[in-house]
Amino acid sequence: MQLEQKNVLLGISGGIAAYKTPDLVRKLSAQGANLRVVMTDSAKEFVSPLALQAVSGNKISNSLLDEDAEAAMGHIELARWADIFVVAPATANTIAKLTHGLADDLLTTLALATSAPIAIAPAMNQQMWAAPATTENCLKLQQRGVLQIGPASGEQACGDIGYGRMTEPEDIVTYLVEFFGRTASSNIDNNLFVGKSIMITAGPTQEALDPVRYITNHSSGKMGYAIAKAAKEMGAKVTLISGPVNLASPAQIECKQVTTAQQMLDAVMDKIEQQDIFIACAAVADFRLADIPTHKVKKKEGVLTLSFEQNPDILKSVAALQSPPFTLGFAAETNNVEAYAQGKLERKKLNMIAANDVSSSELGFNSDRNALTVITKSNKTSLPAASKEALAVDLLTLLHSEYSTIQNNKKSK
Ligand code: C5P
Repeated sequence: MQLEQKNVLLGISGGIAAYKTPDLVRKLSAQGANLRVVMTDSAKEFVSPLALQAVSGNKISNSLLDEDAEAAMGHIELARWADIFVVAPATANTIAKLTHGLADDLLTTLALATSAPIAIAPAMNQQMWAAPATTENCLKLQQRGVLQIGPASGEQACGDIGYGRMTEPEDIVTYLVEFFGRTASSNIDNNLFVGKSIMITAGPTQEALDPVRYITNHSSGKMGYAIAKAAKEMGAKVTLISGPVNLASPAQIECKQVTTAQQMLDAVMDKIEQQDIFIACAAVADFRLADIPTHKVKKKEGVLTLSFEQNPDILKSVAALQSPPFTLGFAAETNNVEAYAQGKLERKKLNMIAANDVSSSELGFNSDRNALTVITKSNKTSLPAASKEALAVDLLTLLHSEYSTIQNNKKSK
């Protein structure tokens, strides 16, 4: 019962994913949460208020003008009661209303009236999710401290494939358990990196095959972005160098978008001298085409042979500088994870390496969760499976302790 006595106010807006909310309510209740549910008019087209009433054990609130619901718990009382307001699914329309402070139904009114943290679980068609208006709205909400759970990627109700699926109920529950775990222990030290500059690379790189095609990998950038946000929260001046990802640029963080490994190297080297710490989280393509054709390659019979050359190793180049910053690398492997990571630590002359197993679809690439083994010359620490946000805090805390030891050793020499 990891949500014992937590008051969860669930706001359901009208997307197809609303049919999953009775399961979400059941799973939250199973963890001991107290549930109150509000739904928009359109949500009622996708899921029955009666089903939600049965699983939540409380009358469903829908309208400001519903005397019965207001008599049971008025909307201001409901807003004050909540320990967290979770909007799941959050449609593009509801996200836009929350961004602009509209209050034309009970759900959006509660979002303005509550002082509790708000978490949204976006759910919509992939094109709507990628629309610049939605990206900007989500960015504004994040800047105001609204938490964002997902969305996940995969097949959609409309047949499209891409980002926009609502995060599964069990993963929303896990997120909330970790959120309350984190706020309860408040294990973030907001001053840990004050006065320190941290540069982070994140996401994949894309290498052109011709003017219309490229090769890349499955990195979502979520781990790197989570580290950037956590580093900012812990007081650092953060520079994020990001490959092409489907994530909003984090607030108050200098963010440079790049496409290729060479561009990433150039952006890193441009600012590396001002950095105390360099964290290479990007999944950089190891190879690029030796000669990129200037025109689209035409279809022809037989085998197509491409010739690749090696991309620069950004992390290795940084670690080889005359006075390098503290370096943390990542080793994403599918087998012999720790042995390969140890090898990389030595070969690239790093201070620290975080190894993760990307063979499981539940963790690592593209997932919201991860598990890491963090290796230094003298230590090995396991950080068990958790949300990438929670892991980022733990990883940076470990990094700080190793960084301070090295700084102190330098001083005493
Ligand atoms: O050698 P490998 O690619 O497995 O090493 C992974 C680590 O090196 C990651 O931290 C990654 O960000 C970094 N790297 C890099 N430039 C490359 C290849 C990897 O910075 N070209």
